Amino acid sequence: MAAKYRVGIIGCGGMSRNHVNGYLITGRYEIAALADLNESAMVDMDERFGLTTKHYTDARAMLEKENLDVVSVCTWHGGHAPWTVAAAAFKPKAILCEKPMADTLGAAEQMLVACRRNGVKLAIAHQRRFLPAYTLAKELIAKGAIGDVHLIQSFGGDGLPNYSSHQTDMYRYLLSDDECEWVMGNIERKTDQYERSTRIEDCALCVFQFKRGPRALLLSDLVPNHYQGAKVFGSEGMLDMNTEQLMIMNKDTGGKWELHEPDGKFFTVKEKGKRFEWDEGAAGQADELADWIEDKGVHRGEGQNGYKALQMIHAVYESARMHEKVIMPVRTRVNPLDVMVESGHLTPERPGRYDIRAFLLRGERMTSDNQ
Ligand SMILES: NC(=O)c1ccc[n+]([C@@H]2O[C@H](COP(=O)([O-])OP(=O)(O)OC[C@H]3O[C@@H](n4cnc5c(N)ncnc54)[C@H](O)[C@@H]3O)[C@@H](O)[C@H]2O)c1
Repeated sequence: MAAKYRVGIIGCGGMSRNHVNGYLITGRYEIAALADLNESAMVDMDERFGLTTKHYTDARAMLEKENLDVVSVCTWHGGHAPWTVAAAAFKPKAILCEKPMADTLGAAEQMLVACRRNGVKLAIAHQRRFLPAYTLAKELIAKGAIGDVHLIQSFGGDGLPNYSSHQTDMYRYLLSDDECEWVMGNIERKTDQYERSTRIEDCALCVFQFKRGPRALLLSDLVPNHYQGAKVFGSEGMLDMNTEQLMIMNKDTGGKWELHEPDGKFFTVKEKGKRFEWDEGAAGQADELADWIEDKGVHRGEGQNGYKALQMIHAVYESARMHEKVIMPVRTRVNPLDVMVESGHLTPERPGRYDIRAFLLRGERMTSDNQ
């Protein structure tokens, strides 16, 4: 049996458990070491998965000592670039970094440069690309089952970078990685709201035009419900999909909705229920990462795709900042929302910083500036 890849995790909170779970399900990895500012987070991880790992409160020390094959970066967004760049310098075979790829496009570019410079494969954890309903939707669209795609509609919440970077990535996945041509959007930000230490808007409305003709409409924090998935309207039919199921209506279904609940590579929706999207997504992305390391094809979450998903989000902010339709690629490398606020262009009318994910922090902290 092939040797298992040695994994080290930077940031041992909620989402890192999904990485560990995915690695273990595939049977292709061993979790060698953990790094977190809090010893208790690492102890929790060991107990949850029955692991015996080395613990580091300094992630750089872990990178120096552990000779890792794979590094997972699971800190908050602002830590993704510094820790990916640091890990890349130690030349692991691959890095799996959480989404959104970074808090600025400039930092995301540095991640791509550092990994390229060191020959490291970089994947960004938009793990829903591994859900069978998403892949079935992509295949149906590609074979023309609903004709020409006119519109993809989705609903986001809790800020564009966090929730909706999954959706901008989903648009591209559904469209076989078609490129976004232009973006137009507007935001409202009357309170000083952050999400995992990244400044976010109160609500947003966004339109994305793709090169081959389709467009996507995203309403974020504007309607009561949001979910991962989409409604796709074509010239000859419609799709309505979420993380478990897909419905299609076209002439072959006699104009009626036809339900599909495809099995994943690892699990079925029936056996996993609400855990399906997490367990299947985590295992799928970990499995394909090992394949990529072994040069059996490219990972569908490769760095360029994470970069483009982030770019579409920052294009919305840039559109709001510049009052224009933003032609891709975005050329502003800092976060346009930060520029808007810090320049006085969009001062919160109700001041007072708060973070909607502060409940994730440990101890007395209310903000996390050490990510
Ligand atoms: N892919 C998804 O569907 C999905 C879902 C949830 C979260 N996420 C992403 O995962 C990332 C982490 O979110 P979370 O909910 O797990 O947060 P969390 O607060 O639960 O975990 C973050 C951990 O990082 C640790 N940390 C912070 N700075 C560190 C440092 N310098 N060195 C080592 N450890 C450090 C913290 O102590 C904490 O334990 C975010 O970027 C988030 O967007 C992705």
